Amino acid sequence: MPKGFWKTIKKPLVAIAPMANVTDVAFRAILTKYGKPDVMWTEFVSADGLCSSKGREKLLGDLAFSKKERPIVAQIFSSKPEKIYEATKLVASLGFDGIDINMGCPDRAVVKQGAGAALIKNPKIAQEIIFAAQKGAGKIPVSVKTRIGYSKDEIETWIPMLAQSNLDAITIHGRTMKEMSKVPAHWDLIAESANIIRSFHNKKTCPIILGNGDVQNRKEAEEKCKQYGVDGVMIGRGIFTNIYAFRKKEKVLTIENRIKILLDHIKEFEKIHKNDEDAKTRKFDYLKKFFKIYISDFDGAKELRIQLMNSHSTEEVRAVVEAFKSRTF
Ligand SMILES: Cc1cc2nc3c(=O)[nH]c(=O)nc-3n(C[C@H](O)[C@H](O)[C@H](O)COP(=O)(O)O)c2cc1C
Repeated sequence: MPKGFWKTIKKPLVAIAPMANVTDVAFRAILTKYGKPDVMWTEFVSADGLCSSKGREKLLGDLAFSKKERPIVAQIFSSKPEKIYEATKLVASLGFDGIDINMGCPDRAVVKQGAGAALIKNPKIAQEIIFAAQKGAGKIPVSVKTRIGYSKDEIETWIPMLAQSNLDAITIHGRTMKEMSKVPAHWDLIAESANIIRSFHNKKTCPIILGNGDVQNRKEAEEKCKQYGVDGVMIGRGIFTNIYAFRKKEKVLTIENRIKILLDHIKEFEKIHKNDEDAKTRKFDYLKKFFKIYISDFDGAKELRIQLMNSHSTEEVRAVVEAFKSRTF
């Protein structure tokens, strides 16, 4: 039976998909304010890193969250059950509502170490990892996010192990690892996976089942739940074109809204990275991804975006935006 918040959550539910360098602390604050998903997810964090004192110091910043984001699930990855056990204990102590294990990441560096999607090829270790997480997490629910196979559809052999591991929730991204995100998600296989999971359970014991792939907004997510028999949907890249994707009441995104959200994001970024040298280089580059998200689909967006992409600091971003505002409004 699902425990913790998964036990009482209203269905159908719509969650934000974990996205590295996207669902970071600043962006989660923006989502919470402008269109909150029913379940928040962090980007994935290395369990091995969390187990080393140097790595921990750096990674704990990525696991900061505010109460307003609840329920919030932290995602971790590793190929080593003992690291997952240690990391889960640590993450549980931070007050997260759930812990999710990544068993779908196709990134070469992750797969090479036997983690992420590589676990689909190694169900024995995958199950040891789940049991280690459950031991470390105590009362906190544990979930897995995975794909339908490594290089081909493997749901008949892969999904039963997940179904029988006493997980509280399972997310199925409807593509194989090899397909990356290059083909349309196979929602028919997500539905079949859900049927496989249910075949091992009764209504009470069944984990929450989420489908994932190509969904653009809450309305479409709710339709997918009905059509494919899942309890919820995770939306990932849909947020890149519609920051309001999770809103219950649809809202038109005006230029003024877009500018306001961008400035708010800058403020959050500055607050979070006050004393962080990385924020001037690597992290500032990640921030630029959001300029494309917010500054698009209006006259003059491209020109403004080019200026923003050429900026080197949050002060410069603010000056460019202020100049645009005085020209436009
Ligand atoms: C930039 C980016 C980063 C991602 N990082 C993660 C991650 O950290 N953990 C994870 O499980 N999936 C990650 N994913 C995969 C997404 O969670 C999701 O499964 C995928 O984008 C498909 O959903 P969508 O079609 O709604 O985007 C990432 C995807 C993108 C585009």
